[in-house]
Parts: sequence; C-alpha cells; structure tokens
Amino acid sequence: MPQISKRQNSGSISARQLEILARRHGTPLYVYDWEEIARAWREFDQELSDLPHLICAAVKANANLALLGGLAKLGSGFDIVSGGELARVLRAGGAANRVVFSGVGKTRDEMDAALQAGVLLFNIESAPELALLEARARARRQTAAFGIRVNPNIAAPTHPHIATGLHRHKFGLAAPAALALYEKYRSSRWLRARGLSFHIGSQILDPRPFAAALAKVLPMIRHLRQFVPLGYLDIGGGLGIDYRHGRAVPVGPFLMPLKKSLAASGLTLLLEPGRRLFASAGLLLTRVLYIKDNARRRFVIVDAGHNDLIRPAFYDAWHRIAPLRPRPGAARRVDIVGPICETADFFALERPLAPVRAGDLLAIYDAGAYGFSLSSNYNARPRAAEVLLENGRARLIRRRETYADLMAPEI
Ligand code: LLP
Repeated sequence: MPQISKRQNSGSISARQLEILARRHGTPLYVYDWEEIARAWREFDQELSDLPHLICAAVKANANLALLGGLAKLGSGFDIVSGGELARVLRAGGAANRVVFSGVGKTRDEMDAALQAGVLLFNIESAPELALLEARARARRQTAAFGIRVNPNIAAPTHPHIATGLHRHKFGLAAPAALALYEKYRSSRWLRARGLSFHIGSQILDPRPFAAALAKVLPMIRHLRQFVPLGYLDIGGGLGIDYRHGRAVPVGPFLMPLKKSLAASGLTLLLEPGRRLFASAGLLLTRVLYIKDNARRRFVIVDAGHNDLIRPAFYDAWHRIAPLRPRPGAARRVDIVGPICETADFFALERPLAPVRAGDLLAIYDAGAYGFSLSSNYNARPRAAEVLLENGRARLIRRRETYADLMAPEI
C-alpha cells in the first residue's frame, strides 16, 4: 500500500487510487496529503504551546494556493521572499499581519506592496536595504517594523548549496554590523526595530547548530532590548526530514533549547518551516516510458524530468522511489532518468529497483517541498498538475499547463 509518506499514522492512499489519479490527470503528477501537512503544522504549534509564537510557513517550499489557504485557516503566518509570494498569500486568504518578508534583494516595488498590505516584519539583510525601507516608509507616511537577519557564522551540516549561516554566505549581517544598524535607526520616525532573525540553512537534522546560533544572538538581544523594543525572535526554518527512511524527525529536540532560553523573555518566537511542513506530504507520480540497456547500464526512462523535480540534480538529493505495483523478481540497479537533454536529468543513479515495464507508475517520495515550486518549463515542458487529498477525497488544485499557457506571455 503506497503511502504519501511512510510516517507512522500517516494517511495512506492505495495504489489503485493513485492509478486512477494518474489516468484522470496524467503524469507527471504531484499528489499531496492535506492531513499530513496539517499534522506537521500542529506539531510545531503544540511544541510551542507554552511560548508566544507564530509559525510562518515558508512559501518558497510550496506556494500552491490551496495549501496556503489551508494553512491560513489553521492560523498560520507566512514567510515570503518576493512580491509574488505576497500576492499568493493574500490571494489564498493569508493575513498580512502574520507575514514576515525575508530575502537579500527586496525591490522598491516589493517593499511598497508589503507596506501597503501591512506585513508584520521586514527581515533586513543589509544597510542599503534598510535605508530604502526607511525612504519608502517615509514616502508613504507609514511606520515599517523591521528585524535584522544576523549571520551567526555557524556551520550547518547540510549540502553546501543550502547552508546559509556562515560569514562567507550572502545572507544576513555579522553581529557588529547588525548592532550598528539598530543603533543608527533607533530614533527613526519611520522605522521600528521589532525583531531579530537568523536562518542557518536547510535540511538540518542536528539540533545543535540551532542552539549554537541561539547562544550567539541571545546576548545581542539582551543588549538591544535596553534601547529598542524588540518583540520577536525569528529562528528561520531549516528542520530536515529523513529522506532515506521516511521516518518522522520530531521537532521537539530542536525547540527545547529555545523554549528554555525564551520562556521568561516575553519575546514572541517566529519560525519559518518549509520542508518539514510539506516534503513528506507529497509524492511525484511518473510513468515509465522506456527501458533501455546500454553497455552495462540499465536506464528506466520516465515521463517526469528535472524540470519537474530538480532536487537530485541540484543538491545530490536522494528520494525514495518505488513502483506502485512492484513486479515479482529480483531488484536490479538502474538509473531512473527523465526525457530532458541534460545528463543531470536523473532521479536516481545505480538504484536497486524492482522489475518494471513501460507503462508502470513510479512514486518519487518526499517531493512535497521544493518539488513543484522549483519546477520550470525547460525543454518547453508544461508544468505538472497537482492534486490534494483531503478527507479521503482527491481534488485537482492546479491543472496541468498547456502549450498555450507556455506561449501566452510572448508577444
Ligand atoms: N526561511 C528562510 C529565510 C529561508 O531562506 C528558507 C529556505 C526557509 C525559511 C525554509 O527553510 P526549510 O524549513 O524549508 O529548510 N531548494 C532547497 C532548499 C532551499 C531552502 C532555501 N531557504 C532544497 O530543495 O533542498
């Protein structure tokens, strides 16, 4: 019985149901399990029940309106990094005053849109960015609440492309520069320092770097609170999942040191989880097109490409892959590859796989985060459809793109 994830108590869906969805909507097809997303969100919420907190789902991980709308109904806030993500959150019914705006390169238009909407906090990453925010707030006769993203110079054990907490990374400001900025704007009429944030990376399975980053910023916060009204500590996202086995990684141990240190502070804790909310709640269904033996290698060529799921090519990511209906016989090592004209267009290399034939369906697991949201139209491939399972029912939440969609913006 394939499950969206192999987590305990996770909602499961039968191979038969998935086959029906694949026939109805075609492949490649993303399938998400709403209950699993809601369960992950509530896990954070319950772990933090004795602290003032706000969970701001990282929109970049999965920006589908139906999912954002469901999270908004749970009371979620959102972490956005662009005007487009702001537009999505608002369209989905998210409350602007629960939105934090992150990112190193916010444009003037994006700042204006966020000021207009009334976001909770701008997470600022450089001196010129804060100067522009002040100018825009002044022009609009509005006060902007900001926090500074501190770069704690903490190494996180993860893929180098998704580590963000070292001084050599473009993110945040080193502590002295951050303190100087708070100081500089402490009496600005248009800016109000309300927060401090960090985000040390993504797919982190060890709680210690979070505790280390916290230990670096707590003295800063204590110092700052003597002269600025800080109300929020934003610890970013970054909690990983177990791609190998699909076991749940509990969030409690990551939050424990925070709970202890913040209990008496009166600060509201902001979290920006992305992967941990969505990844294991989604799978990518793909159909085998051809089996090809070349020299000593066997290729299973499927109809999904790295335009649909780029994580293996981009981050050497390992996703569990299994046929919906394993055929009898011994597994053999195969390369599972897509139709795109790039050698990096693979989902797995030399992976033992049960026998499959053309026409069989494969599930690529743990694809709910940074799957569809990182997908593209490369090779003029329409992006996949997305289906949401909720209360045992399947609902199309994004139709497959058409060739006309691909060409529509061109004049
Ligand atoms: N907050 C900020 C400021 C971020 O930059 C990110 C992710 C998050 C929160 C959410 O992090 P999460 O909880 O999902 O780890 N495409 C990559 C991941 C890129 C993460 C970028 N920033 C992947 O597929 O592994």
